[in-house]
Amino acid sequence: PRKIILDCDPGHDDAVAMLLAHGNPDIELLAVTTVVGNQTLPKVTRNALAVARIAGITGVPFAAGSSRPLLREIEVAGDIHGESGLDGPELPEPAFDLDPRHAVDLIIDTVMAHEPGTVTLVPTGGLTNIALAARKEPRIVERVREVVLMGGGVHVGNWSPVAEFNIVIDPEAADIVFRAGWDVVMVGLDLTHQALATPEVADRIAAVGTGPAAFVGELLDFFGQTYKDAQGFDAPPVHDPCAVAYVIDPTIVRAVRVPISIETQGVHTLGMTVADFRAPAPADCRTSAALELDHGRFWDLVVDALERIGET
Ligand code: BDR
Ligand code: CA
Repeated sequence: PRKIILDCDPGHDDAVAMLLAHGNPDIELLAVTTVVGNQTLPKVTRNALAVARIAGITGVPFAAGSSRPLLREIEVAGDIHGESGLDGPELPEPAFDLDPRHAVDLIIDTVMAHEPGTVTLVPTGGLTNIALAARKEPRIVERVREVVLMGGGVHVGNWSPVAEFNIVIDPEAADIVFRAGWDVVMVGLDLTHQALATPEVADRIAAVGTGPAAFVGELLDFFGQTYKDAQGFDAPPVHDPCAVAYVIDPTIVRAVRVPISIETQGVHTLGMTVADFRAPAPADCRTSAALELDHGRFWDLVVDALERIGET
């Protein structure tokens, strides 16, 4: 199995990403770390522990990370994820305690404790923790296999006309991560807006008939409504598990190598992920952009993971 660290801000779609990572046999979840994003750090951390309990995750360290972006003020997504960051279902109390380490140290320790080229970082929130880890222990940059992140987009934004939430809430951190020198796969909105939880998808999830599947159903009901109200979607785009799905089976996604730079100065374009398609990517290009998703096979993976998780 592919070893991953999930760095997240649950978050409805982050919760689904965690369930997919836990339930899929080709993923070994080494650690879960949290970062301010969809809600404040205490809220998303609490949510991560609640999802762990629902998914039946045990023996995996969870650690809280950055409580604010590197330079910017905190910006949360209450209109999408609610006051708790995971509104909709009732959340259980955590079943275990956090790891005492800061997320940045847990990330560094975990990467350094494994063979070079074996650990994949999967950030599904702002990139604050990942940027700090790369700065605190630069040796992780060549040791990590790749960074497969949900964020950005080539032709589309959601938090501004041209910027995506995870990038724009901490654009300086994103700049560090995209320039670090490791391979970065940007699983952005071009792709994740194809990961729609249509009514057929909701039916398939309901048909699994377990507690964890019902939990995902309740998440998608809430998320579907806020996405309709705030952004006019008929069915919600379930972004974050797309990054996990890419790690499980990259053939579900069409990604192209392209130089990508983060806009950190623009008045109207802050947080834009600027992809340069003018010429074939140079040989030393380490970034790629995911563009197309196999919708059927993606949701097959999510349903399969829920079936394997069963009742916990
Ligand atoms: C991203 O922003 C968050 O609200 C979601 O969890 C996802 O990671 C989508 O822009
Ligand atoms: Ca997220």
